[in-house]
Amino acid sequence: MRATRASHPFYALVEAELEELQRRLQGVGRGAHPTFAAAVAHLFGSPGKLLRPTLVFLSARFGPGSSQRMIVDLAESLELVHTASLVHDDIVDRAEVRRNLPTVNAVWDDDVALIVGDYLFAKAYALAAVLPKPEVIAMVAQTVFALCDGELAEVSGDRGMPTEEQYLSRIELKTASLYAACCQGAALLADADPEHVAALGAFGTHLGLAFQITDDVLDLVGEENDLGKEVGRDLAEGMPTLPMIYAVAELDGGRHRLAQRVMAPDKTPAELAELLRAIRGSRGIERARERALAFHDIAVRALEALPDRPERVALREIADFVVSRER
Ligand code: FPP
Ligand code: MG
Repeated sequence: MRATRASHPFYALVEAELEELQRRLQGVGRGAHPTFAAAVAHLFGSPGKLLRPTLVFLSARFGPGSSQRMIVDLAESLELVHTASLVHDDIVDRAEVRRNLPTVNAVWDDDVALIVGDYLFAKAYALAAVLPKPEVIAMVAQTVFALCDGELAEVSGDRGMPTEEQYLSRIELKTASLYAACCQGAALLADADPEHVAALGAFGTHLGLAFQITDDVLDLVGEENDLGKEVGRDLAEGMPTLPMIYAVAELDGGRHRLAQRVMAPDKTPAELAELLRAIRGSRGIERARERALAFHDIAVRALEALPDRPERVALREIADFVVSRER
């Protein structure tokens, strides 16, 4: 299921804001160094799913100040944080394709990608810095700390197979924190009731957990064309994810042999194919999908605290999309 804006009703309510956001994103490189301008044209030339800005715009509708310019500023800031983190993550993962396009590190090189990410992040923070509520500015900064903590835990953690709890704590930092900031930050900025702000924060966190687990499942079973990035990347890099943790627990019988093979970096193509087959043949994929669905259900329950409005229906549709998507 592709997330084109025409095929998913949850985009419709905030189409005007999304148009404005896209115009702004395409202008981010204006007046900057030509290499940055070219990287921006490359990154924002064809839009991604824009789920995070959509969450910002929908969540803001639960407060009286939802139509203000500052909501678009927050959406742009958080989308730039997200894009900056992906540009840096693609260096870390040595990824060559994202959204069916070569990554910045592949088109240029790691040095350029590093600085393009820094530039995007600085733009994001410049937008956040002039928001009228210090608590929302602090939230953007806290979210970047969380992203860095999650990514650092992933790249510098001890090289053993993580427990399910360790995995969940990492993805809460690296992914769910940004989803929570989109929902909660927008509601705060739009002066929503504190009870609704809290409900949207809980929705965002659990949606983010469901999203990342689904992402990690798709990395093992998806189609490269749908996914827009290489399949099996996490396994190739020796980056253990929830379906792998479950598969190892099922197949290893406590001997730790499979764990070592999964964690090993620089696998041969034959070893990678064999491991992929073993994991796909286990219950790891199914159990991880069930875990994603459980977080989806918690997210959906959090919405019950919100007034029954079309925006609430749209948030529910986003939650359903996140666990049923193929990219
Ligand atoms: C993608 O995960 C990566 C993240 C969600 C976070 C990356 C965070 C950093 C690099 C910290 C730096 C942050 C800033 C703002 C400069 P993934 O590798 O599981 O997903 P993928 O398969 O889409 O790459
Ligand atoms: Mg990655």
